[in-house]
Amino acid sequence: MSKLVHAQWSSKMTFVLAAAGSAVGLGNIWRFSYMVGESGGAAFVLVYLACVAVIGLPILVAEWMIGRRGQNNPVNAMLKLASSSGQTRAWALVGVSGVLAAFLILSFYSVIGGWSLYYTLNSVTGTFTGQDADSVGAIFGGLLGSPGVLLLWHTAFMALVIWIVARGVTKGLEGAVRTLMPALVVLMIVLVGYGMTTGHFGEALAFMFRPDWGALSGDIVLAAMGQAFFTLSLGMGIMMAYGSYLGEDVNLLGTARTVIILDTVIALLAGLAIFPIVFANGLSAGEGPGLIFVTLPLAFGNMTGGMILGLMFFLLLTFAALTSAISLLEPVVEFVEERSPLTRVMATLAGGAAVWALGIAALMSFNVWDEFLIFGLNVFDLLDTFTSTILLPLTGLGAIVFVAWCLDRKSVAAELNLSAGSETLWFVVARYIAPLGVILVFVNSLLG
Ligand code: PFF
Ligand code: NA
Repeated sequence: MSKLVHAQWSSKMTFVLAAAGSAVGLGNIWRFSYMVGESGGAAFVLVYLACVAVIGLPILVAEWMIGRRGQNNPVNAMLKLASSSGQTRAWALVGVSGVLAAFLILSFYSVIGGWSLYYTLNSVTGTFTGQDADSVGAIFGGLLGSPGVLLLWHTAFMALVIWIVARGVTKGLEGAVRTLMPALVVLMIVLVGYGMTTGHFGEALAFMFRPDWGALSGDIVLAAMGQAFFTLSLGMGIMMAYGSYLGEDVNLLGTARTVIILDTVIALLAGLAIFPIVFANGLSAGEGPGLIFVTLPLAFGNMTGGMILGLMFFLLLTFAALTSAISLLEPVVEFVEERSPLTRVMATLAGGAAVWALGIAALMSFNVWDEFLIFGLNVFDLLDTFTSTILLPLTGLGAIVFVAWCLDRKSVAAELNLSAGSETLWFVVARYIAPLGVILVFVNSLLG
């Protein structure tokens, strides 16, 4: 068992910052925009928003509650709560699958973190200044085609993550989150402003918010739900682990709302910044994982002050990616540390090295292994798709079902400060709507 005396967050603000640091990352800017583009726009966005509100919010609250009540890491917290409420130990699987998901996600997340580092460097050297769409595309294509360069930056990113986690200075990052997060929001707004000058802002708005429901498929709905889980860091045990440091006085519903609104606003701003550039330059919205890397440099390369803004943007993106990546490595390290004689530093090195090695397979999907497909997907897409559309929703489903059905209803209502009316609403959502929503999305996609 881990620490006997479990420390708590020094203040509510610290907790919000840590949760926001995990939530806000590449998922909001890189993954959200490329998924929207690939899925054809507004129908995806609206389903995603619905999933965030109806499924994401209750699951976030459920994960925090499990962590706070269990006062332990996800696996032990589930074990403890299951046995004290007379449930089977099999609930610990929710914790285990969360750790597995974190491991798999970090492997490809680090590759994209590496791209962000590489683009930070290239902003400093002025690579993008005055470039057109073709040359920006060629720069990105050159990166993808060079396994050695990809490996270098993946390694650099992963080394930073390992270094921070091994030193246990994670908590020290909250001060930085507090200043850098607002800076990221401001920069996104500037980029949206640039989008408005392209003359294609209206087109982007329509693309993102005027749905063509006829084009909606089961797979797109599943992808939208997966994005909701990914972006909120749900289904990975991370929010459970954070919840274990949470004091009794923190209002779970209110805090969840704050974190979710921040995360969602950043994602929507990213879309509103990127799609005007796509349409203004005749680029393809369905470009895939490279979308932000072939659009934003165009904007930075052609606006006044673009060099400094580009540098700031990629630095902030890298920082946001780092705080999320750290939260992904933490549960892996804790898992290794508890089940082996390794010290924290050695456990971090071992866990980090395993993640790094899997990341190499992910980055080779863009070049030497691009023909190597499993279920029609390359290794990168397989890792990304399998985790976000299967592992995360299943783990999150476990968390919400456990809280809504297995814990004492009165005590849950008390913990959430629910009045009689809101208690009914909460339990209808947590018991039926959210779990059935997840299941229906699965079934719907299986039926094609
Ligand atoms: N939520 C992060 C993002 O949107 O970039 C990614 C992430 C972090 C996913 C931590 C999962 C996680 F546990
Ligand atoms: Na996010």
